[in-house]
Amino acid sequence: MALNVATTPMRRPLGATGIEVSVLGLGAGPLGDARMSEADADALVGAALDEGVTLFDTAPSYGSSEERLGRALGARRRDAIIVTKGGYGVPGVADWTGDVIRLGIEAALRRLGTDVIDVFLLHSCDAWTLGRDDIAAELDRAKAAGKIRASGYSGENEALAAAVASRRFDVVECSVNVFDRASLGGAVAGAAAAGLGVLAKRPLANAPWRFESPPDAGDVRTYWERARAMSVDASPLGWTELSVRFAAFAPGVSAALVGTSRREHLEEAIAAVKRGPLEEGVERMLEERWRASGGEGWPGVI
Ligand SMILES: NC(=O)c1ccc[n+]([C@@H]2O[C@H](COP(=O)([O-])OP(=O)(O)OC[C@H]3O[C@@H](n4cnc5c(N)ncnc54)[C@H](OP(=O)(O)O)[C@@H]3O)[C@@H](O)[C@H]2O)c1
Repeated sequence: MALNVATTPMRRPLGATGIEVSVLGLGAGPLGDARMSEADADALVGAALDEGVTLFDTAPSYGSSEERLGRALGARRRDAIIVTKGGYGVPGVADWTGDVIRLGIEAALRRLGTDVIDVFLLHSCDAWTLGRDDIAAELDRAKAAGKIRASGYSGENEALAAAVASRRFDVVECSVNVFDRASLGGAVAGAAAAGLGVLAKRPLANAPWRFESPPDAGDVRTYWERARAMSVDASPLGWTELSVRFAAFAPGVSAALVGTSRREHLEEAIAAVKRGPLEEGVERMLEERWRASGGEGWPGVI
């Protein structure tokens, strides 16, 4: 039975980290797009906070997203939970080394204009890199020094499974949507059972329903093809509501990170999450369609 607005909790613990997050987070990638004005970035972040969305996911590879997020939060920094990532991108330092983690955290703190990063994730490296002791040691040191509150991994498939099994991390971030359930029941269930926080990225599957013909971007195209194969009729809820409710209430998920540059899209997602989990019959239909379309063979999209 679907929960109603009054009984749906809007905040959840992020695993055993001691951090509480809003069930809906803002994927702050679009803030880094130079086509978005500074005023619009400020307004989007301000609207999110005003509506109880306190979780923000960014990365150094998202253009100027970290800098803009830090500026937009300003004095409201203490109301927000910031997730950023690293493992690369420090000039003169080799990627995926202990040094790049240490210096990358310092650089991210400066870009964000803060003295602590709530969650720092290794940004989609391979399973072998996850096992490097120099990287793990720098994450532990940063935590002990109070520069990060929790560490984790963002990625998919074998590497995600290795991150969960390693017991080295507090949080994982992975794709969870109607067309991408590779980790549900596996890594996501394992992570949640082990007390890790789980952040669902790409909850809208990058909104493939917007495209009449196959889009150019490889990740969106993959979802577009899967959407065609599954041929789901999203009515009467509509795609945004169906997708957000699926991801935000998937078993084991702590929060879903919707990426948007538009306030009206953020508001649609907030309204969806307030409606609680999907009806059981809808969940069952989505799983059956996914299975019948060969979904069990579809890898997670990084
Ligand atoms: N490897 C990684 O670590 C990794 C990879 C992917 C994503 N992420 C994180 O997860 C976040 C979310 O993933 P994502 O942004 O790739 O995918 P997503 O949230 O599934 O989809 C975002 C796309 O959907 C559009 N959209 C949003 N709401 C919509 C609505 N109501 N109707 C129609 N279109 C809508 C957005 O465009 P508009 O701007 O027009 O709303 C944007 O193009 C990212 O922002 C990032 O923080 C991490």
